Amino acid sequence: MEIVLGIESSCDETAAALVTGDGQILAQHIASQDEAHAPYGGVVPEIAARAHVEKLTPLIEATLADAGMQLGDVDAIAATAGPGLIGGVMVGLVTGKALAMAADKPLIAVNHLEGHALSPRLADRTLEYPYLLLLVSGGHCQLLAVEGAGHYRRLATTIDDALGEAFDKTAKLLGLGYPGGPAVERLAQQGDPAAVALPRPLLGRKEPHFSFAGLKSAVLRAKQSGEHSDADIAASFQQAAIDCLLDRTRRALGAAGPMNALVVAGGVAANRAIRGALENLASEHGLRFVAPPLALCTDNAAMIAWAGIERLRLGHRDPLDFTAKPRWPLDPEAQAVRGAGVKA
Ligand code: KG4
Ligand code: ZN
Repeated sequence: MEIVLGIESSCDETAAALVTGDGQILAQHIASQDEAHAPYGGVVPEIAARAHVEKLTPLIEATLADAGMQLGDVDAIAATAGPGLIGGVMVGLVTGKALAMAADKPLIAVNHLEGHALSPRLADRTLEYPYLLLLVSGGHCQLLAVEGAGHYRRLATTIDDALGEAFDKTAKLLGLGYPGGPAVERLAQQGDPAAVALPRPLLGRKEPHFSFAGLKSAVLRAKQSGEHSDADIAASFQQAAIDCLLDRTRRALGAAGPMNALVVAGGVAANRAIRGALENLASEHGLRFVAPPLALCTDNAAMIAWAGIERLRLGHRDPLDFTAKPRWPLDPEAQAVRGAGVKA
């Protein structure tokens, strides 16, 4: 059974994990930088890169120690090589390269998005390709037909903001701090989702793309009007987001061809209201619904190790001169969408 060391450093989590070919997480360590970035209301790339430099090596050592292993015991080293904040990505990738060279092990340069996309298969070993994936994170909002590791058909993307970004901006507006998603979700539980009339951008459109910029502006106007409680605004925002996700995902299910499951992944997939709504949509369509446990939804190294395992099995190896990629789409054939401020 393969054992892979995973390294993640593309945003504001520094993480290392040891994962086996049968999906066991032998050990993992994760250091969040939330406190370092909180005063700025978002991730500061320079602060992030420095923190990764400081924390990564001790985290890898602790992960190996917890599993009672040495570098020589692993079969490969999988490091996130993009997309993301380039300083952080380089820290993780260079570390992965150095370890691979020192221990004479293969290097797998993992696409962070592939880590998210395959994380449901780490969580549920019975999940088979192809599946329809809603990938919702701080930088992305996409619908993809996942046909295998390295095989993605992008059916839709956001033409402006990612959903996680909209959650974070709503949180900032309501003074909930950073990171915003979990705080908005908590406040939404105390509010009325029908209290504030908010737009549902692109609802009913044929192409299953997303748009959240207009929703974000409407949240700002609702707050400025002074007519609504913060809890009602949070609940109404979350409901509008859910209505958009359901309509767009329903559309994609119609266009994707036969799928084995509806799957959600990425940081926003940690939202329980969103998970519940998608689960209902899946059952409407007679489909299995798979969502990784919350700790596997937000950035982590176990999903990177797992993507490494899937790639290793396909005979994939990367050269030690592999360059970090700030942008790296899962489906290189996907057309740019008008208005898409594509982010990493
Ligand atoms: O995947 P992730 O950890 O990092 C990226 O690769 O972007 O996603 C982070 C995003 C943030 O925008 C965060 O606010 C959002 O996921 N998020 C949530 C929740 N937990 C995290 N959004 C809504 N509800 C949540 N419970
Ligand atoms: Zn992520």
